[in-house]
Amino acid sequence: MEKIEEFLAEREANNLLRVLEPLSFRGGGKIIHKGKEYIDFSSNDYLGFSGHSLLKEASKQAIQEWGLSACASRLLSGNLEIHHQLEEKVAIFKGKPQALVFNSGYQANLGIISSLYKRGDVIFSDRLNHASIIDGIILSKAKLLRFRHNDLNHLEFLLKKERTKFKQGLIITESVFSMEGDKALLGEIIEFKKRYNCQVYVDEAHAAGVFGSQGRGLAQPEEVDLIMGTFSKALGSFGAYLACAKSIKDYLINSCRSFIYSTALPPAVIAANIAGLDLVDKEPHRRKILLENADYLRNELLKKGFKARGSSQIIPLIIGESKRCVEISEELKARGYWVFPIRPPTVPHDESRLRFSLTYYHNREILGKLINDICQIFPV
Ligand SMILES: Cc1ncc(COP(=O)(O)O)c(C=O)c1O
Repeated sequence: MEKIEEFLAEREANNLLRVLEPLSFRGGGKIIHKGKEYIDFSSNDYLGFSGHSLLKEASKQAIQEWGLSACASRLLSGNLEIHHQLEEKVAIFKGKPQALVFNSGYQANLGIISSLYKRGDVIFSDRLNHASIIDGIILSKAKLLRFRHNDLNHLEFLLKKERTKFKQGLIITESVFSMEGDKALLGEIIEFKKRYNCQVYVDEAHAAGVFGSQGRGLAQPEEVDLIMGTFSKALGSFGAYLACAKSIKDYLINSCRSFIYSTALPPAVIAANIAGLDLVDKEPHRRKILLENADYLRNELLKKGFKARGSSQIIPLIIGESKRCVEISEELKARGYWVFPIRPPTVPHDESRLRFSLTYYHNREILGKLINDICQIFPV
């Protein structure tokens, strides 16, 4: 217990203590907290699907038909027809033979990696990969070799030096990085896959629904062995999936502990996920507007001399020191913007940042005002 007190005191002293803030409303790009309204720059609801009438209606109907819970895990009696309909849709959406639905992106990465890879295998992982990927690798007991973010020379150096010492080899990356907002160099990674006899696993959490000509994401299905994605971000709902070969799906159904030992996702969530996939096709203007606005914000910040990064709807504004970053986020909050300071250990010590997560709701007027406010608070 003493250790816990010490930990909390140290976190607080370093401005790193996390607390939970209850919101009284969130929707339409806005948040209400303690009676005050904010523009929400912290949401993953990139396309605004979460409040879309089609998703809500689909959920309501599923509740009427099935009730609230799936009532059991998939391998017992929680396996409803609607789960299979969703998996068929995901397989088509991602261009792979099969798909398997998971209860969250965290559970997907944890379970898939740890059941497919074992001690004696090697996993080459981008240094900025999400915690769920790292945790999956640790659980697998495969050798973890982290390459510097998007650094192909470093990746190839590690592949040349280490690949032949192990049985299976995997290269794993996000396609759009959640903290950096940039994209993986998937074309080159595929070349390495062939040259060094590896499999490739791509986490499309922040790309699916947003990138690719039809919003399918960035991973090429004919080249990438394992394509993971979530319903919890652009698709506006909850849960995750793996698109893969049939044998892999069959193997995971029989071995993946995070899939086997958890109650199946509720029908209302599955129905919303199906509606979300349909909506990606029906409303392509949402991703177009989102990406145009993201380019606008990033380019304007760069023109004004700020360190804005990324090439997606996620725009990190690098501040540097953690304390300064918290102060600036507080000042933005006072002006009605809900934006989070991202601090160590999530990002390196000298790279604390404000992470602007853009959604379909942020129009040019909102962004123009934001840029003015940033310039006033934080002159470069
Ligand atoms: C790249 C990446 N993978 C996986 C996850 C986990 O997804 P979920 O929130 O559905 O558990 C996240 C969520 O933050 C993520 O950013």
